[in-house]
Order: sequence, then C-alpha cells, then structure tokens
Amino acid sequence: MTDRFGREITYMRISITDRCNLRCRYCMPEDIPKLAMSDIMTFEEIRDVVSAASLLGITDVRITGGEPLVRKGCPGLVAMLKSVPGIRKVAMTTNGILLGENLQALLDAGLDSVNVSLDSLDREKYRFITGSDRFSEALDGIRLAEESGIPVKINVVLQQGINAEEWPQLAGLAENHQVDVRFIEMMPIGFGKKYQGVPNDELIRKMKKRWPDIEEDPAHHGSGPAHYMKIPAWKGSIGFISAIHGKFCSSCNRIRLTSTGKLKPCLCYGETVDLMPALRGKEGSQKSPPPVKRVVRSGL
Ligand code: 5AD
Ligand code: SF4
Repeated sequence: MTDRFGREITYMRISITDRCNLRCRYCMPEDIPKLAMSDIMTFEEIRDVVSAASLLGITDVRITGGEPLVRKGCPGLVAMLKSVPGIRKVAMTTNGILLGENLQALLDAGLDSVNVSLDSLDREKYRFITGSDRFSEALDGIRLAEESGIPVKINVVLQQGINAEEWPQLAGLAENHQVDVRFIEMMPIGFGKKYQGVPNDELIRKMKKRWPDIEEDPAHHGSGPAHYMKIPAWKGSIGFISAIHGKFCSSCNRIRLTSTGKLKPCLCYGETVDLMPALRGKEGSQKSPPPVKRVVRSGL
C-alpha cells in the first residue's frame, strides 16, 4: 500500500497494553490511571485488524506496550499474528524483565526478533532511570535471548548528565555479543520533553575518534529508520535512530495501532482513526470499506 507521498507502508507497530512494570523517568515516571481492560483491544480484535492490514500490504508487525509481556497470554498473540496470511515477521519490543520466563513460549509461537530497552550497565543508574531495581532480570532476559539465537537488538536512550558518558560500554556490548546496539535520540514527547538527550551526530563523531575503523554497515539497510555502522572485528552493529536530527520521515514505512484500537499514522501528530466502532459492530451493519484503507489513503 502506497501513501499519497509515495511511501510504501509495510510495517505496523501495535501497542497491546498501556501498562508497564518499570517507571522510566522519560516515559512513565509515575503511576498513571490504567485503562479499563474493556477499552483495550482483545487479541482477536488485534488479529482482525492485522488481517485487514495484511490485505493492504502490511507484512511486518511489532508488538509493543507499555511493556507487552505484562499482558497475560502475550505469546499466544504472537502465534495468532504469525498465522495471519501475508504476515512475514512478528517482532517485539520489551524491557526484558519478563523475557527470560516467557522466552521459550515466544520462540515456540514463532517470534522472529526482539528489541530490548537497556539504558545503563550500572545497576544504580538503571534503578535511577527506570525507577526499579530490576537490572539483573533485564540482563538475564537479554542473555537468554541471545543464547537462544533469536536476533536481539538493544535500544539505548542517552540522557545528558545521567548515562550520556556510558556510550562506550553500551555500544561495546556489540563487541563480543551477537546483538546490535541502537542509540535512539530522546524524543520530546510526554515526559521526554523534560530531558536533554544526546544528538546522534555528536555520538558518531565521538565513536569515530574512539574507534577509527568504524564504518558504514551496508548489511543493515533495512526499511526501518535506523542507520547502522560497524567496527570490523565486532560481532554486532551499532545503530542510530535519529528521530530529532535525522529527518527520516521521507522513508517512513510504518503505521501505529494503539492498545485502544486507534490507528496513528505518525507519532508526531495527534491524528488518529478509531477502529473500535468498526471492530465492535457499532457502525450499524456497515461492513466495508475497512477503515484501514481510509486512513492510509488520507492520513499519511
Ligand atoms: N524518546 C526516545 N525514546 C523513547 N522511548 C520511550 N520514550 C522515549 C522518548 N521520549 C524508548 C524506550 C524504548 C523504545 C521503544 O522507545 O526506551 O527503548
Ligand atoms: Fe516506558 Fe519502556 Fe520504560 Fe516501560 S520500560 S516505562 S514502556 S520506556
């Protein structure tokens, strides 16, 4: 499916819960009123949206949250989405805390890859950033995932004065581990507005100084927004997601679905289209056209 700017939309990110077992200072620093379960899409509803989306050309989906693994039965959803015709890949973004205990079920369900958020290798800093002393659980989740052979990416958000100086250690995870480490620029959304991140071009400059043989990684020119570099002797690559300074909108290939069934063409704009009335039969007997079509044509 091609939008009106000529961009091919093949990737859908699906939030399956607003809840999280961490309280990252730039995301969800305090308890927020929880959405009622009845307002959240059921797994069957999510599958129906993905089925409709796959007819329009979506091939890859990513399950996110909040923290997706706090929702009971999450591996079952992975299996449901994997069996949707036309869906090639199902991936997940998690904080890793519950990854170890769910890993086998996720692998059995056919999960294709996992991204794990990890902003520090220092237990105290991790606690400060996430509001929770669960560093070793996150690390165990990453270790077990890597050992299982599933592709693993580590997502890092650097914050001035907190973990900005930790980039050599965090990037260094890719030296001896089969993981890609990606630096995501702090986005001024929600609580992220309160904090100063580190521009990726500054980071790349520092990396070139420290590791002069770092080079562009041509093996990583997927459809996502990340730009990858590699140090020849290292096992994994280093990725840069420059949401603020990269201006990657022209190559955007994605659409988002919130846990309450709203399609969101762009993270930076409030515009959404509510699929719930169609999903729950509140649009009378009108069955077509599927709302997905309407959004993609006009919204992106
Ligand atoms: N800016 C950048 N990244 C963010 N994340 C959450 N909030 C922000 C923000 N304001 C990150 C998490 C996770 C990824 C899915 O998004 O750390 O790794
Ligand atoms: Fe937000 Fe992810 Fe941190 Fe949870 S783990 S609070 S969803 S950034």
